[in-house]
Amino acid sequence: MSSAPRAGVTVFLTGLSGAGKSTVADALVAELEADGRPVTVLDGDVVRTHLSSELDFSREHRDLNIRRIGFVAGEVVRHGGTVVVAAIAPYETAREEARALVERHGRFLLVHLSTPLEVCEERDVKGLYARARAGEIPGFTGIDDPYEVPARPDLVVDTSVTPLAESVRLIRAAMDERTAAVG
Ligand code: ADX
Repeated sequence: MSSAPRAGVTVFLTGLSGAGKSTVADALVAELEADGRPVTVLDGDVVRTHLSSELDFSREHRDLNIRRIGFVAGEVVRHGGTVVVAAIAPYETAREEARALVERHGRFLLVHLSTPLEVCEERDVKGLYARARAGEIPGFTGIDDPYEVPARPDLVVDTSVTPLAESVRLIRAAMDERTAAVG
């Protein structure tokens, strides 16, 4: 028999391309699901394929993308679900709008993956930084488009100095802390 239903929660991973958002999300989700806790994953690249395919990378469209993510996350959290978001989400106001959409129904944990640009660019997993530097992708976040550092993150993790297992442990601890605080 289970006790009182768990409050829904959204873990929102924000940071530059290559900061480790998808890697941390994958590892976090694997652990949560191994614990028998199903997770809805809203990864920027996937959302942009299925939910936001008509959107570009202008500020207006990035904000709309994050608002959509916030709305979907809120709907899942409303029913007690667990959501992991991985999106650049470069603008503070859009992140806070997403927070508001979720906090109507449950908990929201903003995790800033603060991996320095130099490291993200060095990793260049998708080869996009090289293309951005070559002028092939105008408006690339961190190169010629802004990333506003979160003013009130619940947790900050630099994946260039924090091992993956430790990043996941820190996030899970923050999730548990918030659960305890809410009762
Ligand atoms: S967000 O700004 O709207 O939050 P999102 O996380 O969905 O961005 O998508 C980011 C992904 O789109 C990056 O990982 C990268 O692969 C790709 N991308 C393509 N163009 C850009 C760009 N101009 N700036 C940042 N990422 C871009």
